[in-house]
Amino acid sequence: MSILLASDQLEVAAATLARAFESEPVHQVLWPDPRQRVGRATRLIRCLLRDALRYGEVQATSANLEAVAVWMPPHRCHPSLLRLARSGFFWLLLSEGPRFFGLSWRYHRQVMVMSRAHADARLWYLQMLGVAPDQQRKGYGSGLLGSMFTRLDRAGAGCCLETSSETNVAFYQRSGFQVADQRRIGGIELPCWFMVRRAKPTVLADAS
Ligand SMILES: CC(C)(COP(=O)(O)OP(=O)(O)OC[C@H]1O[C@@H](n2cnc3c(N)ncnc32)[C@H](O)[C@@H]1OP(=O)(O)O)[C@@H](O)C(=O)NCCC(=O)NCCS
Repeated sequence: MSILLASDQLEVAAATLARAFESEPVHQVLWPDPRQRVGRATRLIRCLLRDALRYGEVQATSANLEAVAVWMPPHRCHPSLLRLARSGFFWLLLSEGPRFFGLSWRYHRQVMVMSRAHADARLWYLQMLGVAPDQQRKGYGSGLLGSMFTRLDRAGAGCCLETSSETNVAFYQRSGFQVADQRRIGGIELPCWFMVRRAKPTVLADAS
């Protein structure tokens, strides 16, 4: 069971995701000062959510937003300059400065390389999945994934994601993803796993 995020829930969803990702390796590298991390991540995630509300889907477990998932449909995974501008990303780059620009560009470039090598054009992209810290390990994350998988399986569509956390690799493997590639992100020295989940063929006949 899931709901679609409404635009007036954007702020709460951004804050929830930023808190969920507080100890995630990429966020630790981007914002080493723990006192600033959640606040600055919230500003980035606001941009991602603005873009996803226009071009993708932001799903949540309920109006309480225990868990939030940001999905981009096939062909919408790589934003154009116009999309970046509309989401406020360029303002964010200006205020975050060159270090943030350099690191996020390296990360993004590596993900693009892996995605071109392993993702076909029909895959949905799970850009973010986060559960509020006090709600983690209660089934919300896998529940939210499960409802999307049912839909994707019916449509015969697969999905992909990347993560820099080994714990998350295990979580996603349990959810049906397989590691398609693993590389180190140059200049950041973080691992990055690219994972793909193919549609379950047993339910393809259900397609609607
Ligand atoms: C990863 C995340 C989405 C999982 O959602 P969740 O609702 O907490 O997980 P669920 O309750 O659905 O699934 C629990 C299972 O996943 C695994 N798991 C989830 N989080 C884990 C963690 N931090 N450490 C170890 N195992 C974890 C365990 O196997 C767990 O089963 P168990 O509790 O029976 O041992 C959530 O913990 C989260 O938001 N983490 C921080 C943000 C993040 O890293 N997001 C993913 C980025 S790609």
